Amino acid sequence: MSVTVRVPAKVNVRLAVGPARPDGFHDLANVFLAVSLYDEVTAAPAPSLRVTCEGPDADRVPLDRTNLAARAAELLAARYGIEPAVHLHIAKDIPVAGGMAGGSADGAGALLACDALWGTGASRAELLDICAELGSDVPFSLVGGAALGTGRGERLTALPVGGEFHWVFALADGGLSTPAVYAEFDRLTPDAPAPDAPPALLDALRTGDTAALAGALANDLQPAALSLRPSLADTLAAGTAAGALAALVSGSGPTTAFLVKDAESARSVAAALTASGTCRTARTATSPAPGALLLTP
Ligand code: C5P
Repeated sequence: MSVTVRVPAKVNVRLAVGPARPDGFHDLANVFLAVSLYDEVTAAPAPSLRVTCEGPDADRVPLDRTNLAARAAELLAARYGIEPAVHLHIAKDIPVAGGMAGGSADGAGALLACDALWGTGASRAELLDICAELGSDVPFSLVGGAALGTGRGERLTALPVGGEFHWVFALADGGLSTPAVYAEFDRLTPDAPAPDAPPALLDALRTGDTAALAGALANDLQPAALSLRPSLADTLAAGTAAGALAALVSGSGPTTAFLVKDAESARSVAAALTASGTCRTARTATSPAPGALLLTP
């Protein structure tokens, strides 16, 4: 018997970052939007905890206890006083260390899969609690759709989305370390103001207005990501030149995100980005996407 859960990637349509807190984290106003790139996590009984991974970037995924999927199984098992005797297999399609919450997705997916496999029957509130312990972005991977994350990003308020948005994502070679990008943010922004999510952005999501959303996209981590990886400016320029309505770094990068008018524009912008030589490859996706979903009973 095994259980498979599908989990989406995310893009931050507004990532407003405040000053560093005493605990080292930053207060955020983080508007998450789930997009239709997915990892699948399968949980099956095993003699002891084991993680395997398949997919184009599988060799860059840690298979030890630092993998959020493994930590999710351990946290759930510890809460219910059981052994985390499970084989977690990750079919990875979300870029690794790319600023699209791929590791967080695997944490949320493993949690839901283990809960179903072990019949622990954790409540939604308990699952969200464990997600927040795993990482700031993990609760959103569980719920999907669109949400405003405050605190360090883990306190979620669901946001209504009135239409479908089309995206292109340009994948870069290698990853960027999230702590390194935040440290660079601190260096570049010594007096960061309190973060907020502008009403124009929330209106654009609510009405499904792509042009308005394009005008409201913003990521406070973008200057830091560009400082650490200057070549991303060429990728952003290539996507804009190819007809994207707006371009920004996704989360802490190095994936770049391009909002486009429709599916046809997504295909042509993706082809132009791939041909530009400024990225490893480009993917198209739509949003909003549902959160972690059980595929098998
Ligand atoms: O919560 P998570 O483990 O994903 O965070 C990874 C790192 O990103 C943290 O150790 C911290 O350096 C940085 N971070 C932050 N403020 C946040 C979220 C993450 O400084 N709100």
